[in-house]
Amino acid sequence: MADIERNWLTNPSRRSAIARVAGLMAASPVGAAMAQIDPRPLGEHHRFLSLAEVQNAFDFEPHFFGNVVQSVYDYTAHGDGSEFNLRRNRQAFDWVDILPGRAIPTSQVDLSSTLLGVNAKFPVWVAPTAQMVALHPDGEIGMYRAATAASTLMMLSINTGTPVGQVAPAVQGGTLWAQYYPQENLTTTQRSIDTLQGAGCKGIIVTIDQTASFYERTQQVRNLGGRVIRPVAAAGGPAPVLTGSARYRINGGRCWYTWQYIDAVRKMVPGPLIIKGILEPEDAVLAIQHGADSIIVSNHGGRSMDYGPSSLEALPAIVAAVNGRVPVLFDSGIRRGSDCFKALALGANAVLLGRAARWGLAAFGSTGAQRLIEMIQQELVQTAAAAGCAKLSDINKTKVKANFV
Ligand SMILES: Cc1cc2nc3c(=O)[nH]c(=O)nc-3n(C[C@H](O)[C@H](O)[C@H](O)COP(=O)(O)O)c2cc1C
Repeated sequence: MADIERNWLTNPSRRSAIARVAGLMAASPVGAAMAQIDPRPLGEHHRFLSLAEVQNAFDFEPHFFGNVVQSVYDYTAHGDGSEFNLRRNRQAFDWVDILPGRAIPTSQVDLSSTLLGVNAKFPVWVAPTAQMVALHPDGEIGMYRAATAASTLMMLSINTGTPVGQVAPAVQGGTLWAQYYPQENLTTTQRSIDTLQGAGCKGIIVTIDQTASFYERTQQVRNLGGRVIRPVAAAGGPAPVLTGSARYRINGGRCWYTWQYIDAVRKMVPGPLIIKGILEPEDAVLAIQHGADSIIVSNHGGRSMDYGPSSLEALPAIVAAVNGRVPVLFDSGIRRGSDCFKALALGANAVLLGRAARWGLAAFGSTGAQRLIEMIQQELVQTAAAAGCAKLSDINKTKVKANFV
């Protein structure tokens, strides 16, 4: 470096000029505002929080991302179409205010209930989600163990990575219910239900949404990674012409559903029959008329039909139409205890954890899933105490103000 340049850089008059500018900046409102900006955004941290350090459900997600291959991460994270619903499911919770109440000690909060014959300490259950062994070797058995240790119920997906006959007996003292998608052939349906009930799953959940979904973002990622799975022209030949539903990016295999099918299933299920995927008051009423013991208000976590309402926005009108005849369960977007509180206040009798429970399992196995469920339960107790709610019936619409747009 030339002398003249070195002098200029180290010259005391230059240093004092910089100090004066810094002083002016610090004194100005603009400078003060800039100083408020967190100089260490989460993404730049060099480590993730350990299980002993995690503070909320979101802290588990980076571990999940780091622990699995991208296709497994994408399968959990992505939603249908342009993922409007996926985003809106989360935004909707921001649009509900919890009204300040007179806080009570957490020792006075008891959120236990008996719902559909199940005694639960907290109205926070585990939703059916597919293929958990891909998330962590603990898989479905690990999730069931976590749910049981956290005093809650698990719904096992029909797309399980571990057969129901292995999951059910693996954990003592738990409650395992089972979900499946309608099968047009009633003999096949009867066989599936017999298998689920034979394994000890008293509650049967029939999922009636996700009839025509398409994970566009997942497909984009696959294409960019060179794994194009749409038909392509053979060398030199014409591109194959897609016909029927495939032209519209759906397989069409689930577009036949009828309420008469539910009538038939009702006769096969002596225990609780729950219809999952209700977003319209009219469908809620029909589900009850066709024998459902409960419904789940859900848009499948933004994985069913894009550009519909968030599940939370759909909830109040459905609760009004059901009018207390059956318990209303709710899922889509639940990540925090305050989310549970808002859904309960808008009329849900219990809420289900979908992706959040998967983050816990994928991050730290069964122990992580248990920790995550318990964390959300604790947050719910804290929110209830802060809002002055000692019992579940205190968490009602007088405690919230919905500002849905
Ligand atoms: C990866 C994944 C797999 C799922 N698999 C099923 C399934 O097999 N059956 C079902 O009824 N719902 C399934 N769901 C939907 C969940 O039961 C639940 O409705 C949804 O996850 C709730 O939204 P959330 O993830 O925002 O909490 C799945 C959801 C995810 C994220």
